[in-house]
Amino acid sequence: MGDEFEAAVETATRQLVAHWQALAARELPVTPPCEPGSVLSALPPAPPEQAESLEEMLADTWKVIVPGLTHWQHPAFLGYFPTNNSPASVLAEFVTAGLGVQGMMWSTSPAATELEQLVTDWLAQALGLPEAFRHTSGRGGGVIQDSASSAVLVATAAALQRASQGRWRSSGTEGRYRLYCTEQAHSSVRKGCRLAGLGEPQLIATLPGTGRMDPDALGARIAGDRAAGSLPAIVVATVGTTDTCAVDPVPDIGRLCREENVWLHVDAAYAGSATLCPEYRHLNDGVALADSYAVNAHKWMRTGTPCDVLWTSDRTALIDAMSIAPSYLRNPATDSGRVVDFRDWQVPLGRPMRALKLWYVMRAHGVQGLREAIRHDVHLAAQLARLVAAEPGFHLEVHELGLVVFRRDTDEDTRRLISRLQTDHTLLCTPASVNSRPAVRAAFGSPYVNADTVHYVWERIRTHAQAPEKASATTRSAGTAR
Ligand SMILES: Cc1ncc(COP(=O)(O)O)c(C=O)c1O
Repeated sequence: MGDEFEAAVETATRQLVAHWQALAARELPVTPPCEPGSVLSALPPAPPEQAESLEEMLADTWKVIVPGLTHWQHPAFLGYFPTNNSPASVLAEFVTAGLGVQGMMWSTSPAATELEQLVTDWLAQALGLPEAFRHTSGRGGGVIQDSASSAVLVATAAALQRASQGRWRSSGTEGRYRLYCTEQAHSSVRKGCRLAGLGEPQLIATLPGTGRMDPDALGARIAGDRAAGSLPAIVVATVGTTDTCAVDPVPDIGRLCREENVWLHVDAAYAGSATLCPEYRHLNDGVALADSYAVNAHKWMRTGTPCDVLWTSDRTALIDAMSIAPSYLRNPATDSGRVVDFRDWQVPLGRPMRALKLWYVMRAHGVQGLREAIRHDVHLAAQLARLVAAEPGFHLEVHELGLVVFRRDTDEDTRRLISRLQTDHTLLCTPASVNSRPAVRAAFGSPYVNADTVHYVWERIRTHAQAPEKASATTRSAGTAR
């Protein structure tokens, strides 16, 4: 097994490096031109009875699987928000898998836990987050989650713990507790709200034309809910919304939450990475008033998915909300109260060693290298924004950080452009809604994107926008008949 494994790793490494080079050279499509079911039909419907070789599996990976993938690392992948990667991250995932440890508690792998305490404190420093969010504060600390979705669910549980003084654990939520956000909040907030048993979130109005939460409307809603006997538990503010990268006024929201004793969670899944750069630090304004804060290192920090980092300044609420201690999990280290058990900071019990990846990435790039990557992407987004703004028939709606959002003169033209872009496999932009109008989003973040990509993408967009409308089936057949 050892020899076969070593040879296969060598092959896989060669294949991956060649793949990255092909992506960088834009020799591959971004999205696969395949029909639903085509990958399924290319694979045997039943499992193999006999063992197969690792080399065979690798060969099938490149023959059947890779051609059916959307390449998120492709330079012309401008869809959603990025999920970027780096060799250090890939190497860490490999080593992590090889070590195969399970770090649910300090006692099940002390180094896994302590490394996670260290790297989340490192990242808190690098992002300029308040001292209270660090493990060294004794009050708070960071934990690596699989996703921003899990982070908001876990934060909601902590908020319920605080709002109910622990009663929700036995009595449930009884339809009384409330979560507040805007309709611009990510769908994961709505999902978390539902899963935590709070039903639908209370949607707070946004300040006209901004996508930012109106703090006065929030205050009025909280007061109204209290008067009606409901219990406001948590506000989720977004720093960098998915549609337009809007930033809720966290200082005002935070002050209100402190007055009202309501938990404030800040979802900075995308934009949080930008605060590595001093010029974007203002995005942290008011974060000292938050009880929890989450950023997806797996979006814009060269760390492969999954890697969301959630910090809290009130670890007691989090642990009290999540902790259950059956006899099979009891151990002297936990009983001593001197260790962190990350099983109490997340939904699942078991967890891989999550920190090695972030540790490798931060060391391989240095904070300076991660900052430069952000600045590079913001610079490219600015180039695209300038091209869009100068083009007749196009309207630049947003240029924030690495995100550019634009539309055509009419909604019909925008929709046509979106549908044409969706059939172009050489680039990926995704649709957005800005002030209830359709728009196109382009978000930069591939490790291989450069100025050449910007020109390529812009030419494709212009070509699709200028292409004459295709004749409808009726017109075509009528034309043929004539
Ligand atoms: C602002 C925001 N929050 C949350 C999420 C959800 O992230 P995840 O996939 O890690 O749950 C996203 C995803 O793009 C996002 O843009």
